[in-house]
Formats: sequence, structure tokens, C-alpha cells
Amino acid sequence: SDPYPFYGEHQAGIVTPAQDRLHFVAFDVITDKRAELAELLQEWTAAAARLTQGKEAGSFGAVGGAPEAAPDDTGEALGLPASGLTLTVGFGPSLFDDRYGLADRRPAPLADLPKFPGEQLVREISGGDLCVQACAHDPQVAVHAIRNLARIGFGKVSVRWSQLGFGRTSSTSRAQATPRNLLGFKDGTDNLKLEDADLLRDQLWASPQDSSAWMAGGTYLVTRKIRMEIETWDRTSLAEQEQIFGRDKGEGAPLGARAEFDPIDFAAKGPSGEPYIKDDAHVRLAHPSSNGDAHLLRRGYNYVDGSDGLGRLDAGLFFIAYQRDPRKQFVPVQMRLARHDALNEYIKHISSGLFACPPGVRDAGDYWGRTLF
Ligand code: HEM
Repeated sequence: SDPYPFYGEHQAGIVTPAQDRLHFVAFDVITDKRAELAELLQEWTAAAARLTQGKEAGSFGAVGGAPEAAPDDTGEALGLPASGLTLTVGFGPSLFDDRYGLADRRPAPLADLPKFPGEQLVREISGGDLCVQACAHDPQVAVHAIRNLARIGFGKVSVRWSQLGFGRTSSTSRAQATPRNLLGFKDGTDNLKLEDADLLRDQLWASPQDSSAWMAGGTYLVTRKIRMEIETWDRTSLAEQEQIFGRDKGEGAPLGARAEFDPIDFAAKGPSGEPYIKDDAHVRLAHPSSNGDAHLLRRGYNYVDGSDGLGRLDAGLFFIAYQRDPRKQFVPVQMRLARHDALNEYIKHISSGLFACPPGVRDAGDYWGRTLF
């Protein structure tokens, strides 16, 4: 398949049909010079423009440079195609502290997330000044891209945390079949999709009228690493599992309906006189109708980080959601879920990230974040 274009009004990797593999990285910026930060973003942009087209990170490549110099590409993707690689950059709230004189440029939607009931966040794998999301059909290609960006950033940024995801848990286009998460359910049925032009304009992309004009064409990203109590879930009855989500496990249909894309009728009552979809069901609580019409573009990945030393899978969902304003979208939805979701018995939020993803790079003279600097 053809590589995805790197240049455009919006960054790729957001409404791009979700690829199968993820390597997500968050960096701390360690240089204290604003000019060096802007320079790094220019170098990264040049490398990303090449990498996403299946080329090596630098123009000499893994083996074409001087033998006495370290190569400008690490080599492990030699011979591999672009594999649908997209690279998407974001700026965390901590980038807008006093260090770089950017405090007055911090967009209002990039307000720190509140504490949510029940979360058990681990600081070392949360936050970050910058992030890069690499998605591809081949994990080697995604890892290669992140590794080379980290290499290019040596001395200016350091990796704070990173996460691999091995299977997409969302569809972001109607052309895609809905994948399944590690609890065995179809995930992404009722997601915002590439084809929903009006909703994307209203609910995904920052507009020039929003508080920070430099973000126009950009969007805001929330990540949550959500560990699953897989072994407990696996001893839960099928009926209970389906009630927790409010959808059936085989088809993904709303309970009380037949097919995956049948409309959800939250008022429909079963033979017992009770609603098919319970009050604490995940889809009822997360649905736009329960949240002032707030939608999210979910783009998460399954992860398994081996096992935890106690014989349990260290596994779950690396949740990724894009939106125009987390204060009106992720925050109220997650607050409702954190308080009431029947799924909470089986999950634990252990990391959190919040990033402003600037507009797309227009052409070779432009760079990631130019409108900010
Ligand atoms: C829907 C799974 C966490 C927001 C769904 C569905 C599943 C699911 C199976 C139904 C299919 C679909 O429409 O996509 C999970 C799992 C989670 C998780 C396993 C944690 C491990 C979250 C979080 C949020 C969220 C943290 C946001 C704060 C949504 C939304 C929908 C949804 C907005 C669509 C509801 C609708 O419009 O019908 N999720 N989810 N989910 N989830 Fe989650």
C-alpha cells in the first residue's frame, strides 16, 4: 500500500485508519534553550517526512555515510516498506512552564486533568513535555521511527516513558472491520470516524476561533494506560461481561438489538421489565447522550508487557483519544465512568498523558510546532 502523505492541514495518525501497531513515546526536554527546542522540532520534522515515506532517517542512511561517523539511520528498517507509518507529535502542559517563555501560549483546553476517583497513576510513566505517536502495520517500522527520533534528540530530550501496542482497539474509518480489545469485545463500533466530516469539524479539530489561534487545525490528545485484571475477567460469566458493556460479545450489538451497527436504544426494556442496557453499563455512561453530546476519537491499542511476577498478564488497553477540548470531552466522560462504570472492578488507570497536537506540516519549509514558536 502507498505511504500516507506527511504534509497536510492536519497531522497524519489521527483520522488515518488506525494501523495495527503502536510505539508511543513521551520525552522530557532537557535543553534550557528555546532555540534548541525549535531546532530539534525542525530536525524531527525532516526525519519524519522521510521515515513516513519509507526512507531512512537521514540522507546518508544506515551504511552510506563516513565509516568513522555514527550512521544517520540505525538500520533495522532497511528493506522494509513504509508500512503505513504515521508520526504524530504533541506538546504537554509542562512545555508551557517558564523555561521557554511559552507560558502565555498555553492553550486553555490543555488544562491539567483533574484527579479521577480510583486512578492509581505512576508518575514515571505519566506526563511528558513532548510526545510522538508512531503507528504502522509493522512493529519494527514503528520502533525504528521512535528510536531514530530519540537518537536525533540526544542531549536535547530524554525519553521519559514509552509504550508498545500490538493491536488496534478502534476503527477510525467505516472501511475498517471493528477489532477486539483484550476483554474479547469489539471496540470502536461507535467511534468518531474519518467519514463523519461534520462531527470532526465540531468535535475534533481546533478552529481559529478557539482560544489559541496557533492550534488551528490541531487537536488534543489524552492517553491513559489502563491495566486489566485479565484473570478475574476470565472467570466472569458471559452474561455479566455483556451487561458490563451493554453490548453482546459475539456481534457487538447493543443488548436488545441484533447487529453491530443497530442504533442503541437505552429505553428498550427486556422481558423482565428492566432496561436491556443497565444504568452502570459502559456504553450508556460513555455515550454522547449521557455527556452533553461529547464525542471522542478513540485510537487505542492492546498492550501486553509480559507478566507481572505473580503469574498474571501485565496487560490492558493503552487508551488514546483525540478531541477539540478535553475539558468538555474526555474529562466529563471519564469522571462519569470513574464514578459509575461496572467495568471499574476489572480495570485500573496507571498512567496519564495530555498533549496539544499542533496542526499539520504544510510543506518542506514548515515544521512541527512552527505556529507556536
Ligand atoms: C465504547 C471498551 C475505557 C469511552 C466502548 C465499547 C467497548 C469499550 C467494548 C463498545 C464498542 C464501541 O462503541 O466502541 C473499553 C475498555 C476500556 C474502555 C475495555 C478500558 C480498559 C474507556 C475510557 C473512555 C471510553 C477510559 C473515555 C473516558 C468510550 C466511548 C464509547 C466506548 C465514548 C462509545 C460509547 C457510545 O457512543 O456508544 N468501550 N473502554 N472507554 N468507550 Fe470504552
